[in-house]
Amino acid sequence: MSASWSRKDLLGLEELSTAEITLLLNGAARAKKEFLSGARSDELRGSVLALVFNEPSTRTRSSFEIAARRLGMEVLGFSVSDSSALKGESLSDTLLTLEAMGVGFFAVRHERAGAPWDAAAAVRGHVLNAGDGAHEHPTQALSDLLALRERKGRVAGLKVVFVGDIAHSRVARSNAWALKKLGAKVAVCGPATLIPAGVESWGVSVSNDLDRALEGADAVCALRLQLERQKENLVPSLGEYYELYGLTAARLARAKEGCLVLHPGPMNRGVEISSEVADGPQSAVLEQVTNGVAVRMAALRLLAASAATAASPRAAARRPA
Ligand code: CP
Repeated sequence: MSASWSRKDLLGLEELSTAEITLLLNGAARAKKEFLSGARSDELRGSVLALVFNEPSTRTRSSFEIAARRLGMEVLGFSVSDSSALKGESLSDTLLTLEAMGVGFFAVRHERAGAPWDAAAAVRGHVLNAGDGAHEHPTQALSDLLALRERKGRVAGLKVVFVGDIAHSRVARSNAWALKKLGAKVAVCGPATLIPAGVESWGVSVSNDLDRALEGADAVCALRLQLERQKENLVPSLGEYYELYGLTAARLARAKEGCLVLHPGPMNRGVEISSEVADGPQSAVLEQVTNGVAVRMAALRLLAASAATAASPRAAARRPA
């Protein structure tokens, strides 16, 4: 399938075509080989990436930085918690300020769903969504898709189960949209309190019984219980949650032989997954992390190549001619 990239930003997978997702995955597969060989390039030398994170991160933030440096970029490790955001500056004004200093790429993580779209409308530069609220986490989902594609040889026709805190999971949403476009069957499973209203509109099957959901599964992705986003106690106790929804070796045995185990991290061992499974032969957890560097290299390259289209009406209106 041939396609070209014409977007200024990488915001979410729901809005991408199958061809665009495939283009990103193909670019990531190539970047992964380069990354693992230790190759470095100067192809984006002179460009600056700002890491604008107002939520904690280990994987996403570090892998954006490593990816950018591998491509010769400068990286601004901008800390929102030490910034003028605390004095009331808006995200858009913060990005416009950084853009005026020569920043051309912004990896934005924000607790508010939709914030990266607002940021993208405000600046001429390229915005990459590094996770917005419970909405989308496109580069994480692409890392997961790459693991599936490499380990299973395909995505189409696979049954992929997401278990746990579906309600607060931007990873599940981005994955579900992309997996459906690529022809996979998606099932979500968790306690009723952690299944969002209207989930059927994602085109997924829904269950509260993990043993049954795992039947015929080619891959299962355990999701972190996001206690920080829960306004009320949505599970009776962590022990009971693990009893019903923890991914253990006994549970995994109900899936297809060789069922791939995914977790976007960070993991709560003994809550949503056992150490035996997380560290076992079917686990691709650390592979997902490595893939994250490759996916971010591919995304930065594609956006850089689309620089000619990077014109934002709002940014243009704010800028002097
Ligand atoms: N998967 C993920 O987004 O991890 P971090 O929060 O560590 O970036």
